[in-house]
Amino acid sequence: MKTEFRHEPLPQVVCSALVAYAFEGTPATSGTVGRLPAETRGFLEELQAAGELTGKSFECTLVHLPVGLAATRLLVVGAGKSEKFSERQLRHVVGTAIRSLRSRGVRDVAWILGGTEPSAVEATVEAALMADYDADRYRTEHTSEKRIDRLELATGGDALTPEAEAALERGRILGEAQNFARDLVNEPSNRLTPTLLAARAEAMATRFGLECQILGPAEIQALKMGAFWAVAQGSEEPARLIIVRYWPEGAPEQPVIGLIGKGVTFDSGGISLKPGENMHEMKTDMAGGATMLGVMQAIAQLKPRVRVLALIPATENLPSGKAYKPGDVITSMSGKTIEILNTDAEGRLVLADALTYAKQGGCTVLIDAATLTGAVTTALGHITTGVFGWNKDWVGRVLAAAQTAGERMWQLPVDDDYRELYKSSIADFANTGGRPGGAITGAMFIGEFAGDTPWVHLDIAGTRWANDEKPYRCKGPTGHGVRTLVKLLTSLPA
Ligand code: BES
Ligand code: MN
Ligand code: ZN
Repeated sequence: MKTEFRHEPLPQVVCSALVAYAFEGTPATSGTVGRLPAETRGFLEELQAAGELTGKSFECTLVHLPVGLAATRLLVVGAGKSEKFSERQLRHVVGTAIRSLRSRGVRDVAWILGGTEPSAVEATVEAALMADYDADRYRTEHTSEKRIDRLELATGGDALTPEAEAALERGRILGEAQNFARDLVNEPSNRLTPTLLAARAEAMATRFGLECQILGPAEIQALKMGAFWAVAQGSEEPARLIIVRYWPEGAPEQPVIGLIGKGVTFDSGGISLKPGENMHEMKTDMAGGATMLGVMQAIAQLKPRVRVLALIPATENLPSGKAYKPGDVITSMSGKTIEILNTDAEGRLVLADALTYAKQGGCTVLIDAATLTGAVTTALGHITTGVFGWNKDWVGRVLAAAQTAGERMWQLPVDDDYRELYKSSIADFANTGGRPGGAITGAMFIGEFAGDTPWVHLDIAGTRWANDEKPYRCKGPTGHGVRTLVKLLTSLPA
């Protein structure tokens, strides 16, 4: 999708569809409908009187050959109650317009801007790109063949600041980065093995000028990553440790941010096999890794002055004659020993060693994203990501960034009183803490390997995937987490 500004007066904008939004109750005069010429609004008043135009959230009213406009069509999207309007709602309204028009075969769209504030411009472009995404790569008849090729942001002649121009570019970068992450999450495990995930990371790194290093089984074992290896040893597919580095010249030496993403390309549960129902969903168990790769793609272009190292331990978790077993005791890279009580609690194991590696590699702040527990979904549903950590400063920064990004994240507690739940009778830790507080004990287990280094954990098990279609987005991978982490990294004091 090409995106650009368009400056002529709105009645003169030639395009297949011009889009305005309007609020409930006053749809013929409010929102950006208010910017249309009187003639056009007069016509919309008739529609309003007839009850065909209400302004209710996501209502789409399409008018062909609208009076007073050069555009072929006018789409009015309901934006709901004006007092509830927010940047989130703006994103959803933009997305609704894109998906509704493209299903009708429209390919070029002009969106009437409510103003040229940078954050609204950014959100508009980003939301449009994300709405134009469909998880239909493996259908031979693609819905996404009906794509929007061109999105114009009609200013109606309002003055444009350089900040607004930069915001358009930021929106594009962020939208594309999230769609990249979504593509990875959508891939089935036979088409995204650890090796293929590493190849995708490498291709992204090359394209955007990042350093990338891939370690294989021999190196993982040589590093004594006993926890990562315990999971990896059960699969015929060789494990990979994916390392992507963004090291801008002139950036301060500290902080060095370590972004660690769980990269389990398929989680069967291992010997503690999961039930068959919905097991296919475990192709998405590398969503944390995908999030971090999306973040790296974005910051490679946005160029914040901060050093970032992304680490993705990638493996399958399968039962086999070589698989690790309940009762096994393993030694992690940190030297701490772990008793395996459930081979399905594999995410914390691969992350434990990746955190140790990140610390040894000089990271001074650790942020991990992982589809870690079913328990976080029980607590927060598919709407909100669970945020955990001991360090108030960095947890606060992540939560603030989530707020700016418009992604729902909520802090859940960590507390020493939970530590006894994952004590082992024979080793330093057990890899599970039982059902009660499962998201917390899973998080805290990872935190044990961060030690004193500031650490924030995002449990995206619920938010990685949308189970239903909405007017503004497809069912499927969400890209959740990318936007928050990019906002965090681009807003650090340089
Ligand atoms: N990958 C799963 C968590 C998950 C569940 C992600 C549902 C997405 C959707 C993780 O490896 C897992 O199996 N966790 C177990 C931990 C338990 C054995 C302590 C869980 O949540 O049941
Ligand atoms: Mn598991
Ligand atoms: Zn898992």
